[in-house]
Amino acid sequence: MKIAHLSDLHFASWDWNLSQMFSKRWLGNLNFLFGRRHDFDHDRLNSLPSLFKSLDVSKVLITGDLSNTSAPAEFLTAKKFVETLEDQGIYALVIPGNHDHYTQLSYYNRHFYNHFPSSWDGSLPCNLKEDGVTAKKCDTGWWIVGLDTALATSLFYSTGYFSPEIEKKLEQLLEHIPSEDPILLANHFPFFLHESRRKQLVRGSALQKLIEKHPQIKVYCHGHTHRRCFAPLKESGLPLILDPGSTPHLKNGGWYLLDLQENQVTIEHYEWKERWSPSLQEMESIS
Ligand SMILES: [Fe+2]
Ligand SMILES: [Fe+2]
Repeated sequence: MKIAHLSDLHFASWDWNLSQMFSKRWLGNLNFLFGRRHDFDHDRLNSLPSLFKSLDVSKVLITGDLSNTSAPAEFLTAKKFVETLEDQGIYALVIPGNHDHYTQLSYYNRHFYNHFPSSWDGSLPCNLKEDGVTAKKCDTGWWIVGLDTALATSLFYSTGYFSPEIEKKLEQLLEHIPSEDPILLANHFPFFLHESRRKQLVRGSALQKLIEKHPQIKVYCHGHTHRRCFAPLKESGLPLILDPGSTPHLKNGGWYLLDLQENQVTIEHYEWKERWSPSLQEMESIS
């Protein structure tokens, strides 16, 4: 089963309405206008749906920060992109990042879920919006489990929070999954506390402990850092950790192609070199 892992698309729009003057969105727009705007080329995303189709990709996982300031226009642009994938028969699995719960209002009302599904499987007793957890069982025996650990923060913070409530829901979901089935766990934030305190996942160490307790979690896909990460940590009792970087980023952009098989995972990282091209191939045994 082939999955493409994208992240941090950061579709942006401008909202200079004076009502936003004292909102975090105003700062986010300024930041994007004078800085980040020049770092992205969203046109690179246009060729992805047909490329995925030609590569036999059946699912696309997007690990958050689809928007810049959680503005409705940004969510609509992101939704349109996801629909171009679905038009090719590709199933999209989308979780939010901190930019998708950017303001207190967008977080409180969880506007993200007006545009993207909260549940990937209606038969499971949990969903992203209320529980911070959802999952999809794939034909090949693999499970994709998604987390929502994002929240609105003060102006200069972009932390996430793996709350005790989400931890409990994730434990309950893992009890439901047969212990022999391999799991890919997706979260916007890395669980390691390598980032500055302003950007970390609060209680990341609790998530790490939970992962260590469940060796059936074979792959951990995240975003947020905007840097590519490929960390095979099986020897340390941890999953293979992947961050593709911010997909449309001019310098560090990219995405992963994962082929999830019964006993191994094949991973290719694609980078932009006038067109999307594979730059690295690795094979990881998961047994
Ligand atoms: Fe981001
Ligand atoms: Fe982020």
